[in-house]
Amino acid sequence: MAFRMQQQANLPVPSPEALAHSQALVGHLCQLIDAAGGWISFADYMRAALYAPGLGYYSGGATKFGAAGDFITAPEISPLFGQSLAQTVAAVLTEVPDGIVLELGAGTGKLAVQVLGELARLGRLPAQYCILDLSAELRERQRAAIATALPQLLDRVSWLDALPERWEGMLIANEVLDAVPCQLVHRDAAGTLFERGVSVGAQGFVFSDRPLADPALLASASQLPADYTSEFQPEAAALIASCAAGLDRGAMLWLDYGFPAREFYHPQRSEGTLMGHYRHHSVHDPFWLPGLTDLTCHVDFSAIYQAGATAGLALEGYVSQGQYLLDCGILEGLEQHTLNSSPQEHALALNAVQKLLSPAEMGELFKVIAFSRGLAGQTLLPGFRSADRSGAL
Ligand SMILES: C[S@@+](CC[C@H](N)C(=O)[O-])C[C@H]1O[C@@H](n2cnc3c(N)ncnc32)[C@H](O)[C@@H]1O
Repeated sequence: MAFRMQQQANLPVPSPEALAHSQALVGHLCQLIDAAGGWISFADYMRAALYAPGLGYYSGGATKFGAAGDFITAPEISPLFGQSLAQTVAAVLTEVPDGIVLELGAGTGKLAVQVLGELARLGRLPAQYCILDLSAELRERQRAAIATALPQLLDRVSWLDALPERWEGMLIANEVLDAVPCQLVHRDAAGTLFERGVSVGAQGFVFSDRPLADPALLASASQLPADYTSEFQPEAAALIASCAAGLDRGAMLWLDYGFPAREFYHPQRSEGTLMGHYRHHSVHDPFWLPGLTDLTCHVDFSAIYQAGATAGLALEGYVSQGQYLLDCGILEGLEQHTLNSSPQEHALALNAVQKLLSPAEMGELFKVIAFSRGLAGQTLLPGFRSADRSGAL
């Protein structure tokens, strides 16, 4: 089935090939909904829209990252992002010298290149840098990026199909949690809670509410104000638990946009944080061009903290991205990086770092949380030595 594409002001029109791709995914989603009796949860919709093999946004061929794509992530903005993260990784590998680095959701591979390059410079290379990504298409881009930038290190990099059963070392994940399927809950003006799912209407996909029955979701949503819609991400908590389950010794570093629960479920945030990203436009309709539009929600870092604590991990810290990068020495890195640069190159590099640090851009909205298990814990990890906000979780 192909739905008519609703014209939306200011949004670029996709090519005929891209539109055909999107319509193939629409057909797949319709089959899913039909097979489920006319209704699927929003999490099931989002999972298929992002990860259906060969069709989903991340598993199909969409450009996704960078100027020609739909959004820009921190490693795409400046190499100093990964160089800074490498300071935390190096400190953990100093304590766990045989540990691996495990990167989840490695995108274009730029972060891997930046981290590996800096670890090589610091003399702290891990025996293995393992990447686990749900998208087979991205794996090929990651391999090509590493082969081009660091061919001498390619044999240390491996791609996993599942989390290792047992592992030691350091896990890094930038903007992965926001791409984990979320459940939608709506509380109406009378106070009744509904699970907001997806059905097929005459013009396309539509939201469709059912009384909320899932006991875990009911408990999580019990405090929502009336006339309010928001997201819950039990799958993100489950991901933290799975990563923690195999971790014998080391740390995990998760970076993303989001807030503690008190801010996330603030009465004024009555429409939640679900958002589409299409060709550098924020799209409020989550059904806009499935397969060509990224879908994300902000991260409830209190839930992430709870998941880590329940899994027996120690909290190493929770800080804003700006504070994290400053504490990792990004400004010193910038100085080194631009020593022999022209004034124009210097201005560009400075501008990029400014984007990562500024509270008006990524510095405040993005947060960094770190957990550990079995570290001596005598010194705080680089990135977490100042401005800790754990008390807000
Ligand atoms: C927004 S992109 C971020 C990519 C990259 N980390 C960056 O900063 O540019 C999200 C990535 O997470 C991956 N992903 C989402 N859920 C995942 C999971 N459970 N395990 C591994 N990768 C996942 C996606 O395939 C995609 O590569």
